[in-house]
Amino acid sequence: MKTFDMIEKLANTRNLSDNELTALLQSDNYDNELFSAADKKRREIYGDEVYIRGLIEFTNYCKNNCYYCGIRRDNKNAVRYRLTKEEILACCDEGYRLGFRTFVLQGGEDPYYSDALICDIVSEIKTRYDDCAITLSIGEKSKESYKAYFEAGTNRYLLRHETANNSHYRKLHPDDMNLQNRKQCLYDLKEIGYQVGSGFMVGSPYQTTEHLIDDIRFLQELQPDMIGIGPYITHEDTPFSSLESGSLLLTLRLISVLRLMFPYALIPATTSLGTIHPQGRELGLKAGANVVMPNLSPVKVRRLYTLYDNKICTGEEAAQCRGCLERRVASAGYRIVTSIGNAKKENKQNAGIS
Ligand code: 5AD
Ligand code: FES
Repeated sequence: MKTFDMIEKLANTRNLSDNELTALLQSDNYDNELFSAADKKRREIYGDEVYIRGLIEFTNYCKNNCYYCGIRRDNKNAVRYRLTKEEILACCDEGYRLGFRTFVLQGGEDPYYSDALICDIVSEIKTRYDDCAITLSIGEKSKESYKAYFEAGTNRYLLRHETANNSHYRKLHPDDMNLQNRKQCLYDLKEIGYQVGSGFMVGSPYQTTEHLIDDIRFLQELQPDMIGIGPYITHEDTPFSSLESGSLLLTLRLISVLRLMFPYALIPATTSLGTIHPQGRELGLKAGANVVMPNLSPVKVRRLYTLYDNKICTGEEAAQCRGCLERRVASAGYRIVTSIGNAKKENKQNAGIS
């Protein structure tokens, strides 16, 4: 099929065969048309608006040992920290002043934060700021725990599936974790009523194009509201320290494919994208992303939340990141808005699903 036909088919039907997806992902013949089709689609639905989320990385303790991650349990070089409830609330106060209306509380899987403590923090933020959305990103929990966080006022939950292919999953994780449980968590979150985000790393060790197609097919089944993808970046204190990082270009291609398949999705231009290339986030926006997530964590801990090497924004204050991103988003041709930034819903009658 000719380039134009294939991208038009993707834009119109929100789907392609495995062979067609393989061609799009593996060849550099399609890039310009792919990126501009994705940008056209995002502008139809979201105009030039970019939503901002204030990210608070509140603990880097983690009971898991994922081979790719810098805060894995066995990394004895990681200097661990936890933020108190008061410190988290201070980040929100500062964030609110800077125009943030979504707070993302992210951390390792840290049992120190009991369900009661998480609920207490969430409901206090909600009491102070009833015009804000709260997003949690604290890993795999029981359905009961997810229900409790939801009832306390949490609106959204981010849990990347990381890879939807079982044998690939086994290469990235030790035996005490499994893909089925992770997928179950995502379905539980959806059933409870959360706006759910999933996603995966691009170019993680041993990843093939077939695995990426499995990721896309899983997302088609899950139909998440948010899709977070970013390049895998090597961390020197992990078992994968000698393996290569993922590529900018493949990440951009995937952002565009996902924008065309999920026109209404909230897709961030991630910090990891900004880390592998100085203009990575701007390029991500131009390829179809519509969210940025600057850091609101206190500067004293930023350096310590190192999932991967050379992470950007570890020396800056919240206000500096906010201003920096404002300029970067404008330079890419978009505009930061300070609304709560829910996903737009489509009129089902007009859905072009084949
Ligand atoms: N490189 C890029 N992303 C990573 N993550 C974890 N480790 C790395 C790494 N080395 C991602 C995972 C996780 C998210 C919070 O960060 O996808 O879900
Ligand atoms: Fe943090 Fe640019 S976004 S310094």
